Amino acid sequence: MPETSPKGLTRLAFGGDYNPEQWPESVWREDVRLMREAGVTMVSAGIFSWALLEPARGEYDFGWLDRLLDLLHEGGIRVDLGTPTVVPPVWFYREHPEALPLAADGTRYEFGSRGAICHSNADYRAAAANITTRLAERYADHPALAMWHVHNEYGVPVSACYCDSCAAHFRRWLATAYGTVEAVNEAWGTAFWGQRYTAFEQINPPRTTPTVGNPAQALDYKRFADATMRENFVRERDILHRLAPGVPVTTNFMTALSQCDSVDYWAWGREVDIVTNDHYLITDGRRTHVNLAMAADLTRSVAGGAPWILLEHSTSGVNWQPRNPAKAPGQMARNSLAHVARGSEGAMFFQWRQSRRGAEKFHSAMLPHGGTDTRVWREVVELGASLDSLSTIRSTRTQADVAVLWDWHSWWAQTLDWRPSEDHDPRERADAFYEALYDRHLTVDFAHPEADLSAYPLVVVPALYLMTEAAGNNLKEYVENGGTLVVSYFSGIVDEHDSVHEGACPGALRDVLGLTVEEFSPLLKGDTVRITGPDGSELTGDVWTEFVVPREAETVWTYADGLTAHRPAVTRHRLGEGTAWYVSTRLDAHGLDALLGWAAEDARIAPRADLPHDVEVVRRAGESGTYLFAINHSPSDAKVPLEAPGTELLTGERAAGRLEVPAGAVRVVRLDG
Ligand code: GLA
Ligand code: ZN
Repeated sequence: MPETSPKGLTRLAFGGDYNPEQWPESVWREDVRLMREAGVTMVSAGIFSWALLEPARGEYDFGWLDRLLDLLHEGGIRVDLGTPTVVPPVWFYREHPEALPLAADGTRYEFGSRGAICHSNADYRAAAANITTRLAERYADHPALAMWHVHNEYGVPVSACYCDSCAAHFRRWLATAYGTVEAVNEAWGTAFWGQRYTAFEQINPPRTTPTVGNPAQALDYKRFADATMRENFVRERDILHRLAPGVPVTTNFMTALSQCDSVDYWAWGREVDIVTNDHYLITDGRRTHVNLAMAADLTRSVAGGAPWILLEHSTSGVNWQPRNPAKAPGQMARNSLAHVARGSEGAMFFQWRQSRRGAEKFHSAMLPHGGTDTRVWREVVELGASLDSLSTIRSTRTQADVAVLWDWHSWWAQTLDWRPSEDHDPRERADAFYEALYDRHLTVDFAHPEADLSAYPLVVVPALYLMTEAAGNNLKEYVENGGTLVVSYFSGIVDEHDSVHEGACPGALRDVLGLTVEEFSPLLKGDTVRITGPDGSELTGDVWTEFVVPREAETVWTYADGLTAHRPAVTRHRLGEGTAWYVSTRLDAHGLDALLGWAAEDARIAPRADLPHDVEVVRRAGESGTYLFAINHSPSDAKVPLEAPGTELLTGERAAGRLEVPAGAVRVVRLDG
């Protein structure tokens, strides 16, 4: 992917979704004046405007958008212009009701919300291509145009449609992937439960069945649905590339939000010109800044390490969670700058002016209902100035310490029905390992299981149930060449078709881990097991245990009770120049920290004991220098050691030795040299 930035944008991106069609044009002038006051550099417009742009089939009204873009251009504000294909107008649906998606149980979704699209529908595809073409023809040379924003958040709220068009499309997809129906039978294991097909025409989407359906079919359908959305993105992108050469194309991802788990962003990252992401704080009681850091690291990773843009987050509360707390004073800036630390070239929001009507009127915005005499507005203006002082950071790259393996296909496979325990949640393990690394002040790159890992001293595999033979070999080579690997239970079990690898589990990892697993033995709800370590220390596991048979591996921690008592809980395998650790139960935060401590020693990663808890320290480096971000999420003032003196960019002050970071504050030091 070429490293690109929005055309004509010379500062960090700062602004938000701008939906001015909700207000009379007199308000637009006021908007642009206030945008300038806040230091807004770019807005996303037109994302939901199809019904206004094409009020009836073949009738267009671009006048208002012309005036809007001209006005923004006069104000010096760049525009990330939407293709409005996430909400076709009602006239389109009344002409083509079958473009509304069908749920697995046959329910047809109705018009009146957003994102109700059957991505296989030929009429939708044609209409989307048409409106995209019209927009590109009209605005390709508009001086305000910085970037194209195709669609909105592919994958939500509907991730798959189960209609007849999709069935036909699925059969074509299967024919391309497998060649023959016999190959499908083999891959899906249809010999079991008498599911054998004799022609592609007999195969349907995995619609509602009386009990559990074929898991490999369900997994392939997730791949198909993802690929189908991507086809539609690529179709729009190619129109835009052809008609507006030189203008980058993006679509906003939601990388680490479990609300959107139906999109394989490794594949999407390769298709966009600039990776952009939306991130909202999930207020379920967990530390929101840790999930934020994870989302930012994952976004940077799907961008191949290149800079990316945070296209949406919120100034304060959202309105789509069960409880939507406001952000604390200072939290918005901390959130924004934490994204920047991890590679974002700015911080944008949903949305510019808070709605008075419609579904999101209680969602915060840059300009609240209360106008400019509000805390949120004052913080927005302050953030604009902060981002302005960081302009030279553009094109530098975040420096990572370790890698965590991540694969949406594996995640999809693990969430299918009839697994050994419903309490095992692969996403929970990924979050927990990430949090343990975060608390050790290690910056994480995420990596695909088949990616080159040689740059990382430590690679962590939280729960990768599906792992190809190639991925297993990749990890073996990584360890043989001196890497340190940590693998959590229920990894390396099945291949890409959800078929258990031949021989004893974990087939893809037996060699690198030097062990086999004879049986899984998940625990009952609330049960725990005790584990004792070589130094007599004790840890606790829950949810899962296994009967591990060490082959070449040594046992480090042993189960002290339960069905697996006296058997290995944690093992270590020296292989070639490296080491592979395995843990067969779900460790709590304390246990994970202990395990990672041992592994970090093997990987020769020095502990960052001098950094206080909840003070995030991340570096970006490149041609313009090295920038150290210190973000204090804790309620106490903190001190962060600097490896060189430098200039603190938000205050303009010189900094040396130990940098003071007041409680809740952010400091960004450009180190000398
Ligand atoms: C998503 C959408 C926006 C808006 C926000 C609200 O990210 O892209 O249109 O609905 O959520 O949080
Ligand atoms: Zn469909």
